[in-house]
Parts: sequence; C-alpha cells; structure tokens
Amino acid sequence: MRKNIVAGNWKMNNDLPETEALISDLLKQKQTSNAEVIIAPTAVNLYQAFNATRNSNIEVVAQNMHFAENGAYTGEISAAMLKSVGVNTVIIGHSERRAYFNETDDLLAKKVDTALKNDLRVIFCFGEELNDRKSGNHETVVENQIKNALFHREASAFKNIILAYEPVWAIGTGETASPEQAQDMHKYIRQTLNTKYGKEVSQDMTILYGGSVKPANAKEIFSKPDVDGGLIGGAALKAEDFYAIINAF
Ligand code: PGA
Repeated sequence: MRKNIVAGNWKMNNDLPETEALISDLLKQKQTSNAEVIIAPTAVNLYQAFNATRNSNIEVVAQNMHFAENGAYTGEISAAMLKSVGVNTVIIGHSERRAYFNETDDLLAKKVDTALKNDLRVIFCFGEELNDRKSGNHETVVENQIKNALFHREASAFKNIILAYEPVWAIGTGETASPEQAQDMHKYIRQTLNTKYGKEVSQDMTILYGGSVKPANAKEIFSKPDVDGGLIGGAALKAEDFYAIINAF
C-alpha cells in the first residue's frame, strides 16, 4: 500500500547517550500529519532505540545488513540479528554504501533477497551522480540500478519494498533536486515499474525522495504527486527539524 513515510537516516552519528537524548526529544514533538515515522540509528544502538520508542509510532530500522544468513563475516550483521532486536525494516543500497564500501548492484540484489526472505521490509536507495545528470543519463542510470537489484523479484515482493530516490549530488551538499526534478524522476520510476509489473505494483509503490530535504523545502517536494515522502539525513538529527518535515504533509 502506498503511504507517506518520513525516514531519518542517522548515518554514523549519535552514540548511546545521544541516541537516547534525541529519541527523548523526538517523543516530545507533536505530529500533525499521518506520515509513517522511521528512524535509522547506528546498529549498536538499535535495541536501545527499539525499547525507547516501544510505546510510540516511531519505527526503528537498520541502515545496513549482510546478505549471508550467518557465519564467518567478521564485523557484519545478519537479518536474524536485526529481527531479534525488534527491527522489521532495513535500508539497502544507500549511495554511501555503494561509494565507500563498493556495494554493487549484484551484492544489493542478494541483500534484498535475504532481507525479504527474513520478512524484513526493504528501503531500497538509488540515485544518479552529478555526471549522469549533466550528461542526461540520469534516467537510464536509475532505471538500471532498480532493474539490476530488484527486477529478478516477483510482483508480490514489492509489497515489502519502499523505494528511495536520492540523487548523489544532492546528499549532504545542501543542494536539493528541484521539486520538478524529483517529480519527473519519481514518475519515470513508476512508469518503469508499470512496464515490468503493471499498474497495481506501480501505483502502490511508496517512493521517497532524499537529498538535503529540510523544513524549508519539504512541503514543496512532498506536494508532488509521485513523491510519497522523504529519506532525511542531516535534518533528521534535530527533533524539531525532523518533525517540521514530517508535518510538511
Ligand atoms: P541529507 O542525506 O538529507 O543529509 O542530504 C540524505 C540521505 O543520505 O539519506
């Protein structure tokens, strides 16, 4: 089902006391929209975050996961481990994972499969780099990222997938895609889904925009018909700003 979702990706920020403090601030905020609220703290604090948000409507999700079920993968975290601490959703394919940890489409396809097999919902991220946008290849790049990691799946798998379009040139740079650029790409993504899987999958798909979303620009971006919410980095680290974005719907 298509929903409005605002997800905060905390990245490698906030130790345990800071995580507890930010959650306590978040719990004091007033929500006036009906958007689903998600936060993604660092893995070591997921259990504490899960407990701290237990009686709220904030869902705690993971930023990453390994594709193997278990075994000799020093430093990695499995789907079952995430499930065991209350996590039901995982972000896969963030551009920082692709760029700094060499995560390829093939690897991401495996992660998606493992997550879905373990009943984890997937927030699948993708987006073009500045060069792709400048050369006019942005639609092809995005289409390939989606096809390569997701199109081996059956239509029903998409019930547990949320897409997050994040142009790399707009992440953490202060530069946002214009609401029109976001809308054009989201529409293109929906058409791509429609071509492969038909109307139901494409119309039901929740597609988030990410990249320098702030209280000042959220309303205009979220007002676009194919934009269903946001994946928020920097602005998710301040409770007031995060809720101003949530309430922009
Ligand atoms: P940003 O990050 O909001 O700081 O640009 C977005 C993201 O990386 O998900």
